[in-house]
Amino acid sequence: MLRSPLRWVGGKSRLREEILKRFPEHVCYVELFSGAAWVLFGKDPATSKSEVLNDMDGELINFWRVVKHRPAEFTEAASWLLASRELFQEWRELPGIGGEIARAVKFYAVLRIAYGAKRVKNHFGIRRMKRPELYWPEAKEEVKKVIDRLRIVWVERLPWEKCVESYDTPATFFYVDPPYHVESAKAYRHYFTDEDHARLADVLQQSVKGKWLLSYNDDKFIRNLYRTRGVTIEQVKTRYGLQGGLWKKATELLIRNY
Ligand SMILES: C[S@@+](CC[C@H](N)C(=O)[O-])C[C@H]1O[C@@H](n2cnc3c(N)ncnc32)[C@H](O)[C@@H]1O
Repeated sequence: MLRSPLRWVGGKSRLREEILKRFPEHVCYVELFSGAAWVLFGKDPATSKSEVLNDMDGELINFWRVVKHRPAEFTEAASWLLASRELFQEWRELPGIGGEIARAVKFYAVLRIAYGAKRVKNHFGIRRMKRPELYWPEAKEEVKKVIDRLRIVWVERLPWEKCVESYDTPATFFYVDPPYHVESAKAYRHYFTDEDHARLADVLQQSVKGKWLLSYNDDKFIRNLYRTRGVTIEQVKTRYGLQGGLWKKATELLIRNY
């Protein structure tokens, strides 16, 4: 399976096989909150006629555009990166400044250097057992591999409601991975309030014509939003990486309307 070049809070690198094996037949595939797109990169493109990645984070979308359209310039500029605390702090303060290549390189660097759940809030951290993940040629290979995959994908930057409106048909399948109902989800530039979680539950259960599969943290508030006939809630096991190479076990929810 392809790996995403981005280390993203809530990235589905560990859960994606569980998610993929539950996918139904469909024509159009939409990731409503795509982030680092771990699920799309693990998916067989032949299972859909059209594939859409959608996320509101403008720096993320700029990154995909640059690796897709200007890969040589990106890899050349990124090969000069240094895992320095001082540079990191400078890049973190000015994410949207500069041309598209400079922005993509800074965005990539901050995510690769930053640590754990605070990645998007950008925390340098101290690692005694690990090299910087800017280490080449491995990182370069990861970027190169996703470029071809992105050639056959539509990339949108829409608020999720607008994306649903644009792509919903009975033959559409939405993989929905919203910011979780936990404190660390506030690390995104765009995060969810309780009202946003409730609104998503309403739209999915009352208006969407297509099929959908949601992933969420296991939480009472979320379970209550989806106690509806025809909706299946499953609990799956996963684990999170902690500092010092340790792991924490967790359960997550997969909720679907088929
Ligand atoms: C849990 S992450 C998705 C992680 C992704 N599945 C992965 O594997 O990397 C949630 C994403 O929702 C995006 N987001 C937050 N609010 C949004 C909104 N209103 N519309 C679209 N995207 C939004 C955030 O930028 C973030 O990338």
